[in-house]
Amino acid sequence: MRKQYSPFTYITFFFLINTILCSLTPIILHAELISGYEFISEQAKEIQNDDFQNPGFSVIENGLDIYNEVGENEVQCSNCHGLNGNKFIPKSIAQFPKFHEILDKPVTLRDQIQYCWVERLENFPLLYDDIQLLALETMIRNKAFGEKVNVDINEKMKPYYEAGKAFYFTRFGQMDMNCSQCHDIYTGQMLRGQKLSQGHTNGFPLFRLESQKMVNLPQRLRECFRSLRAETFEQNSDEFRNLEIYLNARGNGLKIETPAVRY
Ligand code: HEC
Ligand code: HEC
Repeated sequence: MRKQYSPFTYITFFFLINTILCSLTPIILHAELISGYEFISEQAKEIQNDDFQNPGFSVIENGLDIYNEVGENEVQCSNCHGLNGNKFIPKSIAQFPKFHEILDKPVTLRDQIQYCWVERLENFPLLYDDIQLLALETMIRNKAFGEKVNVDINEKMKPYYEAGKAFYFTRFGQMDMNCSQCHDIYTGQMLRGQKLSQGHTNGFPLFRLESQKMVNLPQRLRECFRSLRAETFEQNSDEFRNLEIYLNARGNGLKIETPAVRY
């Protein structure tokens, strides 16, 4: 006679298998990291590769102009970071977000620029989606072009990384979906005319052909939230900051493409 198991055993078994599969999914699917570049059309690739056609380069020029302006206290970014930012170390730029010792919390590249803008130039804080901040971020991240993303998840960063990871796997909105479903499970499939990529961040800030606009990561994330028909978060929220830590670290090893071009 077949041995009978109690329903409880079945349920436990089901959850066990489910947990194992869920925790393995990202590992299996991301054995190979693929940049969003590989998922765009040949035409978009051409625009990205051509410094004259790629609109991101005029944003870099704007960034340099702002970088060379004097602040309220007559100090310039270049006083500390060199002419045109030539003292920035690409490997160090590729480590953002990183832990900021004075602020005692992680900062994105955007946060760090804002910090220097306010504390070192004594300027009025920029709005988080201000085009000047976007231009500075684009110009500085471009300094690390070709450098491998390398977020250090050290002891201090770990809790924020874990919070970002949990967020990535949280279901949102009317669609009741999480990031992983589109960017791990359905990668390569078409969604409303676009091929779903692995959702990496190595191209940011990047130029969107659809809206003809340069966007930073939080601006892009807000759009993913809209496609989930979910309430979104503030650009400057802890949720998005933690998510950025997780996303950048998840793409550790991918080469920085700023300014990338995407649909
Ligand atoms: C008086 C010197 C000074 C000025 C002026 C200054 N910074 Fe900084 N900056 C620093 C210091 C010191 C750090 C190291 C982290 C910290 O203390 O905030 C830093 C760090 C940075 C970093 C991160 C570099 C890395 O590799 O981690 C960026 C990006 C940056 N600054 C951008 C700017 C921009 C943009 C301006 C002008 C708006 C500016 N800074 C003006 C002193 C300065
Ligand atoms: C309903 C599907 C869907 C969900 C869920 C979704 N996205 Fe996206 N996402 C897209 C589409 C479509 C694009 C544009 C094509 C692409 O690059 O994948 C995109 C693009 C991105 C990009 C830009 C990739 C690049 O190379 O430019 C990032 C980063 C991203 N998503 C992150 C997220 C995060 C984080 C979440 C969870 C909060 C999320 N997405 C949820 C559909 C989705």
